[in-house]
Amino acid sequence: MKLKGRGSVILFPLPFQGHINPMLQLANILHERGFSISIIHTRFNSPNPLNYPLFRFYPIPDGLSENHVISSDPNRIVAFVKFLNSNCQTPLRNCLAKLISTSLEDEDPIACLVTDALWYSTQAVADDLKLPRIVLRTTNVSSFIVLSSMSLLFEKGYLPLQDSVAEMEVPELPQFRFKDIAMLEASDRESFLQFIEILVQETKASSGIILNSCEDLEQEFLSKLSLLFPIPVFLIGPFHKYFPASSSSLLPQDRTCISWLDKQQPNSVIYVSFGSVAAIEEADFLEVAWGLANSMQAFLWVVRPGLVQGSEWLELLPNGFLEMVGERAHIVKWAPQQEVLAHPSTGAFWTHCGWNSTLESLCEGVPMICQPSFGDQKIDSRFVSHVWRVGVHLEFKIERGEIERAIRRLMVEPEGQEMRERIKLIKDKINLCLKLGGSSYKSLDNLVSYILSM
Ligand code: UDX
Repeated sequence: MKLKGRGSVILFPLPFQGHINPMLQLANILHERGFSISIIHTRFNSPNPLNYPLFRFYPIPDGLSENHVISSDPNRIVAFVKFLNSNCQTPLRNCLAKLISTSLEDEDPIACLVTDALWYSTQAVADDLKLPRIVLRTTNVSSFIVLSSMSLLFEKGYLPLQDSVAEMEVPELPQFRFKDIAMLEASDRESFLQFIEILVQETKASSGIILNSCEDLEQEFLSKLSLLFPIPVFLIGPFHKYFPASSSSLLPQDRTCISWLDKQQPNSVIYVSFGSVAAIEEADFLEVAWGLANSMQAFLWVVRPGLVQGSEWLELLPNGFLEMVGERAHIVKWAPQQEVLAHPSTGAFWTHCGWNSTLESLCEGVPMICQPSFGDQKIDSRFVSHVWRVGVHLEFKIERGEIERAIRRLMVEPEGQEMRERIKLIKDKINLCLKLGGSSYKSLDNLVSYILSM
């Protein structure tokens, strides 16, 4: 239902797949609640306006060449985010100033700006233009707390990670071991900590935080979050459950997956995808291939071009591999992931544990094999394997025998069935959050009232 004249919200996503998806889902949610939606976006990795005929889109220059490729190296990703922040600050200011001046005659005055938390340079712009800024943090609460406490963790000597304590629990966060909170090995520690400091400072200076999670999933971290960020916080997720599958995919989704899944037995397929950024070494790629083949289970594998640096697509697979696995395997460049996870044939998800993937799997009750690479993925993996106990953590060498064992634990052994039962309870809990009176439902009501009061 469109409630006319509630005001307009301007959203500014960070141009990474894992950040664009939740931001556009949030745009849909706010639109459904009666707000007009404008999306300001970089030209690089721009969303497709044709998929959102009810929104207005405003591209801004970003200083990137058309064929820019996002690195999978976490240090380079941090440098890239800094580059975007400095390059886009002025274009964003110009675009917003124009929108504000035209909105004076508009029936829907601008209520606020919503930006990704990693767009820290936008707080100064919003302050200058006297526009309230709300931050969207696309990870879960606990990993946001760990990230925001990075300086303290270094001061305490918890980081950089020492091998002798890697497996021990962090005293203040006993859910995690020291190795789980080592989000990345910073090549320049000073500059990394400065980056986190400014992110935290500009989030604190904002008018509120929205998270794609729900209170019932992360109850024990909520008071820590409000101590760190004494501003309004809204956990209204999971966003993707408000609407059917996302149309914000940057790569074309290969729908042959669905017809292939239709031919498989219930819970018989292992779905494998490492998200939009993570890369693996050639040797590891071969271990993954052999582990899948030797498991004797059916598998749907997303091999994103660039998953192995420098490779085109499947040319690294051993000769005869595809013939050997035959109909038991289906390999695509990019899948309609939410539909795949919701398909009755999907029995397990081998994932890098990006927060979107983790949440999508929880929502469909699909147990996981976790293979994190950096950042929040390590925290999510620990949650999945040790807190919620709905997955197996592949945390040592990527080796075909280990992979085969992990797959069998989930797909064949009674342990997998127990995980399926536990994850079903989590799925039900999440569904309740979104229903009338549920925590996300109430939080969304609060967010809408908050925006209307601005
Ligand atoms: C990044 C970070 O790596 C992650 O740790 C952080 O939590 C969010 O930003 P990404 O690596 O892409 O994200 O992973 P993830 O968060 O799982 O997001 C991937 C998105 O792409 C998901 O919404 C998933 O449904 C979608 N996807 C993935 C597809 O649509 N098709 C695919 O084949 C694979």
